[in-house]
Amino acid sequence: MPKILITGASSGIGEATAYAYSNPECELFLVARREQRLTEVAEACLKKGVSRVVFKARDLSVPGQGASIVEECLEELGGLNLLICNAGYGIYGPLQEVSPQDMARIWQVNFQSGYESIYAAVPHLMKQNEGHIVLVSSVIGKKAFPYAASYCATKFAQVAIGEALWGELRGTGVGVSVICPGYTATEFQQSAQNTASQGSWNRPGSGQDSAAVARAIVSAVRHKKREVHLTLPGRILCGLNRISPFLVNHVAAWVLQRASKKEDRRQEVGDIR
Ligand SMILES: NC(=O)c1ccc[n+]([C@@H]2O[C@H](COP(=O)([O-])OP(=O)(O)OC[C@H]3O[C@@H](n4cnc5c(N)ncnc54)[C@H](OP(=O)(O)O)[C@@H]3O)[C@@H](O)[C@H]2O)c1
Repeated sequence: MPKILITGASSGIGEATAYAYSNPECELFLVARREQRLTEVAEACLKKGVSRVVFKARDLSVPGQGASIVEECLEELGGLNLLICNAGYGIYGPLQEVSPQDMARIWQVNFQSGYESIYAAVPHLMKQNEGHIVLVSSVIGKKAFPYAASYCATKFAQVAIGEALWGELRGTGVGVSVICPGYTATEFQQSAQNTASQGSWNRPGSGQDSAAVARAIVSAVRHKKREVHLTLPGRILCGLNRISPFLVNHVAAWVLQRASKKEDRRQEVGDIR
């Protein structure tokens, strides 16, 4: 019976992934900070028919939590077959407004906690010669953009770890998949940390459905895909970037600098009013 640990399961892609694995074959171990939301997600999973669900309210910005949750999962479910490192948030703004402390926190939540979990899980998965690790990165883990430097850095690091680890585990029964969603309609934009002068990355409105990302995760695990790009704009962007990074860099800088100036002006007018 697959035993599955999902971080960031209280909303968005993590929640949708928990539902995607809610069948009698699976046991779930869900992690995020908001206990009430986890309770609701766990109840919904049980209604959908999952065999068993355990949830823990844990703050992954605390060093060491990434490893602890793996230990807890092994203890409570009696095993682990699939680790999905999904928890994360964004910081939007110019680099000089993102303090080293802000950078350290986003690094811990988006990357380091996942690294801790993987480090704790790999010996167990190798021993049973079976299992899978999923890292939920992003399109901007493949191409960095202005005003999202810290977030991009964490997402690039996930891609790097996924790629390298895939090579190390090749030929064993343990697989690794990196998922690169494009813009997805979740709570991500609302919970992102915006610095004082930057709102140009805010994108209310429609994005792809989180259930589509969850389906892609299930398929990646089933077919042992190394890297998955979900949206057409994401694929086009990565393709163009391979052909001419120079052009993509300049266009992106031009578009985002303009949007940033517009936002600054909008805020100035707001301040005057
Ligand atoms: N939405 C997009 O457009 C998009 C695109 C590409 C990649 N992604 C990636 O997809 C992943 C999931 O994001 P989402 O879109 O589903 O956004 P979301 O709805 O905001 O979900 C983020 C999840 O991470 C958890 N989380 C955040 N900080 C945490 C912390 N300190 N400790 C424990 N859990 C924490 C949140 O739970 P609590 O708040 O309850 O702790 C929540 O369950 C992220 O890694 C994100 O980078 C998103």
